[in-house]
Amino acid sequence: MKVDMRVNIAGVTFKNPVITASGCYGFGGDYTDFYPLSRLGGVCLKGTTLEPRQGNPPPRIAETPMGMLNSVGLQNPGGHAFVTEELPRLTGCGTVLIANAAGSSIESYVGLVELLEGTAIDMIELNISCPNVKEGGMAFGATCEGAARVVRAVRGRTTKPLMVKLSPNVTDIVSIAKACEAEGADAISLINTLLGMRIDIKTRRPVLNQVMGGLSGPAVFPVALRMVWQVAGAVSVPVVGLGGIEKWQDAVEMMMAGAAAVQVGTASFYDVYAPVRIIEGMEAYLEREGFGAASQLTGIARK
Ligand SMILES: Cc1cc2nc3c(=O)[nH]c(=O)nc-3n(C[C@H](O)[C@H](O)[C@H](O)COP(=O)(O)O)c2cc1C
Repeated sequence: MKVDMRVNIAGVTFKNPVITASGCYGFGGDYTDFYPLSRLGGVCLKGTTLEPRQGNPPPRIAETPMGMLNSVGLQNPGGHAFVTEELPRLTGCGTVLIANAAGSSIESYVGLVELLEGTAIDMIELNISCPNVKEGGMAFGATCEGAARVVRAVRGRTTKPLMVKLSPNVTDIVSIAKACEAEGADAISLINTLLGMRIDIKTRRPVLNQVMGGLSGPAVFPVALRMVWQVAGAVSVPVVGLGGIEKWQDAVEMMMAGAAAVQVGTASFYDVYAPVRIIEGMEAYLEREGFGAASQLTGIARK
């Protein structure tokens, strides 16, 4: 019998549990030469702010063992261009569309989600965790009070399902997840990148222009898995797990830790087909192991 790959998150049905991660997939168009977006469970679009942003000056990418550092800094065309130029290109693409909303103030978050109301966006991922701009939301995501303030303000202004994306650069991620849930988050996604840096020993200067950047890729997987396990064990809303997923086995592990779905980010930079391979590998595994539905994986790992 065919495995039912569908998962439901906050009332939205995804045809399978694999979503591309924000910032690693642009606005979808970069990958359509390789496979149709309709293969994917969902697409999480590039982080968008109310006003356009140029991003940070280069160098803003550095290689690391099993990963990369980036300090792109939320380069994006702004909310208006997102709604009038990017979104129309995605109409009818046959997958769940998630906008990644970032901001530098409560007002800018609210202004952006109001712009998204009435658009084809299926879900909003509230980015309170970007480490690469001074005012990129990580300040909000770093404390329970800050996280609660943004979620509360935004919750009152949108009817779209709201998923809050958490930063791993905190001491107690569980209390922040709970604060978001208490203010009406419909789902939690984690993790954003881990703050790191590198130094060029020839020039004796930091490699990145911004000195620090966000670490992503397979190197962060065990940290992400641990945090998803902790958060999924503490909240009742669905958790979407990401951070270092490159193979179907990682996605299965992440769901076993408690994730209802996964996102794939950095892996798409070095294997354009990574999300598709993960979907196919997971489906074959579920069939081999006698699962009727992908959703049965969520949280089945036991101590
Ligand atoms: C180049 C780059 C740009 C990113 N831009 C965003 C962004 O705009 N918004 C966001 O929430 N996360 C952004 N992220 C973080 C990813 O969505 C993801 O949380 C993180 O990279 C961990 O997953 P991964 O190891 O699968 O990449 C970005 C990551 C990279 C590498």
